[in-house]
Amino acid sequence: MPADLASKRIIITGAATGIGRATAIMAAQCNAHAIAIFDVDDTAAQETANSINSITGTTSARCWHVDIADRASVEGGVDAAASWMGGIDVLLHFAGILHGAYEPIESFEEATWDRVLDINLKGTYLIAKQVVTHMNAQPNGGTIITTASGAGVTGGSSSYAYGASKGAVHGFTMVMQRHIDMSKIRVQDIAPGRVRTPLVLDNLRQQLEKTGDQAHYDAEIANLTDPVDVAKIATFMASDEAKVMRGPVFTR
Ligand SMILES: NC(=O)c1ccc[n+]([C@@H]2O[C@H](COP(=O)([O-])OP(=O)(O)OC[C@H]3O[C@@H](n4cnc5c(N)ncnc54)[C@H](O)[C@@H]3O)[C@@H](O)[C@H]2O)c1
Repeated sequence: MPADLASKRIIITGAATGIGRATAIMAAQCNAHAIAIFDVDDTAAQETANSINSITGTTSARCWHVDIADRASVEGGVDAAASWMGGIDVLLHFAGILHGAYEPIESFEEATWDRVLDINLKGTYLIAKQVVTHMNAQPNGGTIITTASGAGVTGGSSSYAYGASKGAVHGFTMVMQRHIDMSKIRVQDIAPGRVRTPLVLDNLRQQLEKTGDQAHYDAEIANLTDPVDVAKIATFMASDEAKVMRGPVFTR
């Protein structure tokens, strides 16, 4: 049974592609009231919004160009989306990058480190901070789902910066769980496994270029999870049916 998101006003970051896009479309299929899409890929984000606006009668979708690593951009986007939707019930935060894959520590560029940490970790802090401010002012609070990864939480990563950032997103989310009144705002992280998205396909292509191991590449591709299966879990986590859920959720 699909999750019930009727009347939910949702911000989804990183919904131009991948898991975020699949989740935005599924949230519309679950009858969300309004979906605010935040991304830096304006063309693809608009395609997601167009798909939502054309496939359902109940959900309205709109895009904002929000660079998740930029404080002014995040604050402006959250405030504008809250004003458009009349509040924020759910944040599903998927925006992220994987750079620096297969780079040895000796040559790992500081600029790459900073960029990955700025988008994946600082971006999570910036948007959570602004969304919590809105949710605290609402009688019914809300739900915040951040995106960690098995990389940096239960295992390693192809990128030092990516693994570090995702472990830190998980830690940050646990701190929020401890300090925020969970009866008002539920905070959880989702940690996807290996999902068939541009982020992972780029990563596997880089690995193939480095190793030339076609058989390994083919096996990895065949074993990827469909983003729609992660979207099913994310939309459930966003729903009131999940109100007693706590802690991180891992997927294959
Ligand atoms: N695909 C996987 O196997 C996997 C596994 C674990 C965790 N994750 C995490 O899931 C999330 C979604 O990943 P995906 O695989 O769908 O990747 P993706 O590359 O398909 O999507 C990422 C989205 O984030 C957007 N984005 C990038 N930088 C941004 C910025 N500065 N501001 C706003 N938006 C920005 C991109 O434009 C894109 O739409 C990421 O946080 C990723 O780290 C993915």
